Amino acid sequence: DDKEETNLSDECKEMLLSLPREKGWRTTFLYEFQGFWCQPTEIQAIMSFQKHFQACDTDVVLATIPKSGTTWLKALAFAIVNRNRFPINNDYKNHDLHPLLTSNPHDLVPFLEYKLYSKNQLPDLSKLGHPRIFGTHIPFPSLANSVKKSNSKIVYLCRNPFDTFVSSWIYINKIRPTSLPELTLDEAFDRYCKGIIGFGPFWEHMLGYWKESIEKPNKVLFLKYEDLKDDTCFHLKRLAKFLDSAFSFEEERDGVIEKIVKLCSFENLKELEVNKNGRSIKHFENKNLFRKAEVGDWVNYLSPKMADKLSKLVDEKLRGSGLKF
Ligand code: A3P
Repeated sequence: DDKEETNLSDECKEMLLSLPREKGWRTTFLYEFQGFWCQPTEIQAIMSFQKHFQACDTDVVLATIPKSGTTWLKALAFAIVNRNRFPINNDYKNHDLHPLLTSNPHDLVPFLEYKLYSKNQLPDLSKLGHPRIFGTHIPFPSLANSVKKSNSKIVYLCRNPFDTFVSSWIYINKIRPTSLPELTLDEAFDRYCKGIIGFGPFWEHMLGYWKESIEKPNKVLFLKYEDLKDDTCFHLKRLAKFLDSAFSFEEERDGVIEKIVKLCSFENLKELEVNKNGRSIKHFENKNLFRKAEVGDWVNYLSPKMADKLSKLVDEKLRGSGLKF
């Protein structure tokens, strides 16, 4: 918001002056930076990340568009990658609770642009355990070169634009600063279809990772929220294998996959004290991250006319790419 803008570096302030801008969803403005609509503090963080971040070959980057299942993906990847350190069993004694039972996934898997490279500061990454897992909404072309060049892995979770839009609109109205007027559904929809939303246009964001996942399937794993909901175990196996952490025969036999699914489930996470009453990302209440987690909830919000418009837009933008919803 405006207050945040006054804390920006001179370099970033100068950069903003040269960028096209539009009215924002939860900040006064969004700026078109490297082809995508971003908030000022995000732009500063991306610039710093691009300049300073050194990827390790073992790093895992979890990429999403906001509201497409970031929290879930973070939980799943954290549980898989750390299962030797933090065993998954459902009969916990009080002293060895799994971290996902006491911390929000965003506190276990930090965002590059909100937590680590925010506020014009450089993060101390030396304390992070390896393999390091990061979360990000940064589009593929804007990732730091070392992420692209190293053997680090990228997992992209994509959600259908209809539900993502509705989830975003509801979320934004919950967290928007009171200084900004309420965002009506019609106005939000209009901006969404023009691509003007944080890290939009959504189709460019999806296609960037989609194309890379086709060219380099060992580098980028492309998952869909709907598939993950439909058969979580199956896609969890794919995810673990992709992360060089495949489940062993014994683990499968002992039900480890099912235990991870249960641990990271919406129903489980939503009811935890930390997610009911805690706060992770600055003044954001964790409870807002858990709403309905349903596929197709958009029918309760979009008129047939809106649905038709968005459907045509998605068809047009994704045509020929092989990506479908
Ligand atoms: P809805 O608003 O449709 O309910 P993000 O984590 O990227 O902010 O995405 C938020 C969306 O993911 C919300 O969708 C939220 O309810 C859903 N969600 C949160 N935790 C989830 C989980 N463990 N499993 C499935 N969906 C989850």
